[in-house]
Amino acid sequence: MNLILLGLPGAGKGTQAKKISQEYNLPHIATGDIFRLLAEEETPIGEKIKEFLDKGQLVPDEYAIMILREKIKKVDISKGFVLDGYPRTVYQAKVLKEMLAEMDTQIDMVFYIEVDPERLVERIAGRRVCLNCGHSYHIKYNPPEQPGICDYCGEELILRSDDREETVRKRIHNQLNELNKITDYFQEEKILKVINGGSIEEVYVEIKKAIEGES
Ligand code: AP5
Ligand code: MG
Repeated sequence: MNLILLGLPGAGKGTQAKKISQEYNLPHIATGDIFRLLAEEETPIGEKIKEFLDKGQLVPDEYAIMILREKIKKVDISKGFVLDGYPRTVYQAKVLKEMLAEMDTQIDMVFYIEVDPERLVERIAGRRVCLNCGHSYHIKYNPPEQPGICDYCGEELILRSDDREETVRKRIHNQLNELNKITDYFQEEKILKVINGGSIEEVYVEIKKAIEGES
């Protein structure tokens, strides 16, 4: 089962991807997590990527495609995967389709978690993430058991460097247009499912119903 999660920054892609990944035992592939790790490295490519992240801009397609191609080669996707943060452009979506066709597979379902942009800034301001295992928390909506510590791996939780309010607003602004084009593209492919962004549990229930063929 090959799944994609779409949504603006803070829509809950990472949160839902982790839940799906655990319940259905599918690898969670998050291009944003990969870029953040690369941006920490003092390499020419890491420095370039950091510039885009800090400005709240999308990383150019060539890097995103290269990163995804490498990741898909490394992880076991024989049972499928959950993609979070890719595709971000229609071009990336088309390349992914070709990549999967070469492997005799395809995208089965695309979930678009639709949330009012105004609510996203508040969500991101309260987010704390674990750079080690990729889990994200919210100080109010989804707190860790022990403040500041990841429930899953015990590492310290941090604020993402691109989560300053000004950068968040830029990320949302920069992605709205392209996101609409991607949802249109998947709508035409007849694999798009729009999920109304309620609570974490409500969103997950909707996703599960769709996966299990109940909606
Ligand atoms: P990425 O890491 O993918 O960031 P993003 O799209 O900005 O999304 P976020 O991770 O901020 O939000 P999310 O939807 O995962 O929400 P979360 O579950 O954490 O990408 C970062 C950057 O990398 C991009 O800006 C771009 O530059 C680059 N990039 C990545 N992929 C790329 C690509 N393919 N091409 C080009 N560039 C690329 O939830 C947010 C918070 O809300 C958390 O605190 C959570 O606990 C809480 N929460 C979640 N759901 C709910 C709910 N239902 N109710 C209340 N609170 C909730
Ligand atoms: Mg995320």
